[in-house]
Amino acid sequence: MGDQDFVKSSEAQIAVHWQEEDKFYPSASFIAQANMTDAEIYKRFGLENFPECYKEYADLLTWDKYWHTTLDTSDAPSWKWFVGGKINASFNCIDRHLPLHKNKAAIIWVPEPEDEPHVVITFQELYVRVNEYASLLQDFVGLKTGDRVTIHMPMVPELPITMLACARLGVIHSVVFGGFSGKACGERIADSGSRVLITMDGYYRNGKLLDHQEKTKLAVDAAEENGQKVDKVLVWKRYRDQNSSEVAMVKDRDFYVNDLLPEYTGKRVAPVPMPAEAPLFLMYTSGTTGNPKGCQHSTGGYLAYAAGTSKFVQDIHPEDVYWCMADIGWITGHSYIVYGPLVLAATSVMYEGVPGFPDPGRAWRIAEQLDVNIFHTAPTTVRMLRKAGPDEPQKYNYHFKHMTTVGEPIEPEVWKWYYNVVGKGEAVIVDTYWQTETGGFLCSTMPALQAMKPGSAGPGVPGIHPVIYDEDENEVEAGSGIAGNICIRNPWPGAFQTIWGDRERYVKTYYEKYNKDPKSKDWRDWPYFTGDAAVLAEDGYFRILGRVDDVINVAGHRLGTKELESACLVVPEIAEAAVVPVADEIKGKVPDIYVALKPGIKPSKKIEEAIISEIETSIGKIARPKHVYIVPDMPKTRSGKIMRRVLASISNRGDIGDVTTLANPEIVDNILKMVQGN
Ligand code: PRX
Repeated sequence: MGDQDFVKSSEAQIAVHWQEEDKFYPSASFIAQANMTDAEIYKRFGLENFPECYKEYADLLTWDKYWHTTLDTSDAPSWKWFVGGKINASFNCIDRHLPLHKNKAAIIWVPEPEDEPHVVITFQELYVRVNEYASLLQDFVGLKTGDRVTIHMPMVPELPITMLACARLGVIHSVVFGGFSGKACGERIADSGSRVLITMDGYYRNGKLLDHQEKTKLAVDAAEENGQKVDKVLVWKRYRDQNSSEVAMVKDRDFYVNDLLPEYTGKRVAPVPMPAEAPLFLMYTSGTTGNPKGCQHSTGGYLAYAAGTSKFVQDIHPEDVYWCMADIGWITGHSYIVYGPLVLAATSVMYEGVPGFPDPGRAWRIAEQLDVNIFHTAPTTVRMLRKAGPDEPQKYNYHFKHMTTVGEPIEPEVWKWYYNVVGKGEAVIVDTYWQTETGGFLCSTMPALQAMKPGSAGPGVPGIHPVIYDEDENEVEAGSGIAGNICIRNPWPGAFQTIWGDRERYVKTYYEKYNKDPKSKDWRDWPYFTGDAAVLAEDGYFRILGRVDDVINVAGHRLGTKELESACLVVPEIAEAAVVPVADEIKGKVPDIYVALKPGIKPSKKIEEAIISEIETSIGKIARPKHVYIVPDMPKTRSGKIMRRVLASISNRGDIGDVTTLANPEIVDNILKMVQGN
């Protein structure tokens, strides 16, 4: 976060105009089977029992050597958890399940083309494939404990196999989202110091077999420009017997994994017992300024936290069929497709393609076919599916017991569709608030213990003690209606350890703002600054308003863009809304509103007026938008997030930057013409 952003968002007193929503309660049948029904958990995880409470999560794992110190703060604010312990993540996700579950599906992979069969990988098969691949990585590639490897792969089972093979050897994996460009991948290769790139020839997206390997050259070149030579590129094949890419292999550098693997048939590699605080992986995330940051996650602490939150918040049991529709290239996929579910011996479903392909019923067909009972996705996807096929879910005979939303605030209108239509009024919903940096959930309701409140994530999960500070480090009281910076008072095992290679930036970005004494070794002096604005209701539920730099300051009045978007969605014709700040001579900033309509509805002046009127009624005249643009679609990332930054640049007639990596770059020109008339 740049200093400028602090200044922009420095008024802590924000009136929040989002009305309180009624609560929804978990069903008796959900409670009857839930993993956590004991409200005492909040006492056990109270600050007075910190940090020892986290033994409960550590004990969900199998340790090679049990630890002696729960939390070591000597290198504050780089926390060390479960010190003295040794553990292997691959062993915990695979080997230890074999006696009871070897024939159970660990991963069910659903290819995008509907006529291709599903791939079911049992725990035994996962064991075999991970061992053989780990053996290849060790012998052929020469990887050893502590090395970094960059993995640029789509949603195929070879991706978790690769991650778990690395983890088996104590090799640090850095997965780069498959949709990122070669250049972006290369910069991350260089930052992490990987000499090996693992990639894939092609994959399906939206009905097309994409050539993914064509990104390799750019990745290797960009890495080299940034000072890192790539010695070996391992290429997995989408189809064993044919190439899905036109790209020629570079001699002595590029190797097809599928050609090498037969030599490793039957090979086994003993999982390396890693110190609990050894890094398991890096996950890059964007900051407001500067290069992407490599968030470094530990082995023992991270895995314990992924296990505990998967068990109690996701309510995963080994018998469940769990489907998280995120991409493994993001933290959600690491914690809640791979490590969390597998450490609990659940069946984790992976889907290759886009949720709405070839039609908006696809997701629900998959759910019906596999009898998925836990479903996890982002509000963006919910909005998209709601727009494309509002009545589709009821056509399919699936039953979710539990659903998750993650990654952005969900508007109450969208939440209610998710609850009533997708969840058929049967499933409990958790709105999980967290970040790449935090490894696992920060705020959410505990599904069997608390009521749901549309639009609010909920209280801190057990062991997480959030607080809202204003700019002067005063605590903002619950129920005051005033928003401020949400911080976490205490460390937790899932928290990242540092930014790879840049401890100074780590301390500055996440701790400097509210730290009183930089020399202190007491965790109480180091609240974690999330960079998000939030408001705390009287009932202890946090509502996340968005990044502090996503807040629009209109005439000294801060409005969460989400509040405006939520208001837009109340208008029945609206499917999606994005609000961006546009410079205004008099008021500083005012909102510009972009909306996309539900299928079959034509743009009209009346709809524009309805939006303005809704905003005026639910928020006030202060929030009146400068313009309302009804656009055919929103510019979106490949992962489906609306690119508000692009819309803001269009509104502000600024530099739009590189939009070639968007899912739909062509829409940008269209909107440009509409807004700027050229
Ligand atoms: O602004 C918050 C928002 O997403 C940010 C973290 O993004 P990322 O590191 O990409 O991780 C996404 C998956 C965990 C946060 O700073 N955010 C995340 N979850 C929620 C949310 N905003 C509101 N409600 C949520 N449930």
